Amino acid sequence: MKLLVELYIVLHMLMGAPLNTLVDARHPLPRWFDPGPQPDAVSALEALVTEASEAGIRAAIYSGYRSYSKQGAVEDRERIVRPSTANYYIASPGCSEHQLGTAFDLVWPGLKVESSDPRNERLYIWLEENAHHYGFVLSYPYKEIEEWPYNNRWMPQVTEIIHEPWHIRYVGMSLAEDMIAAGYLDPQNSVLPQDFYQPWTSINP
Ligand code: DAL
Ligand code: ZN
Repeated sequence: MKLLVELYIVLHMLMGAPLNTLVDARHPLPRWFDPGPQPDAVSALEALVTEASEAGIRAAIYSGYRSYSKQGAVEDRERIVRPSTANYYIASPGCSEHQLGTAFDLVWPGLKVESSDPRNERLYIWLEENAHHYGFVLSYPYKEIEEWPYNNRWMPQVTEIIHEPWHIRYVGMSLAEDMIAAGYLDPQNSVLPQDFYQPWTSINP
């Protein structure tokens, strides 16, 4: 049995999780899951960045793959800055899409992701319009939900996380096109990428 469990772990390390794996506070990844950056996602990202640069848009990786312990360190830092609201910004260890190896935060080189510099704005609009051509979706799209403060940018009751125009996740062309067709980027439409994902029911030795 122990051998089978070890084989299972090694296989998942090598193969990564399914592209439609739901990862959030209620659907954490196993602690042992540590797949590294996923090659298909990295290749797709390279194609996206090249195409963006041909359109005069520059994109750099601000944050890419995170291990379980790295995610913990990022959360710890955020807790110092915002003790009671850190998890609107940063997921707890196990609960971040960055741990899948398919999610990236993109930024105009030299800027911070949250900077409202016009160069970031251009990049984020370009991502909304083009990311799906490379199999990416925006995990935390803007939704007009009036009861939330801060210019309606909070929506923890639906995705748990604030609007993050910089956070893209590779799900493959077909699923990305399905989400676009369903209108997930429409602020008035309540459909979200998370509606298309499945919990990854796995053993956690
Ligand atoms: N900032 C995103 C939600 C994360 O920590 O995965
Ligand atoms: Zn992110």
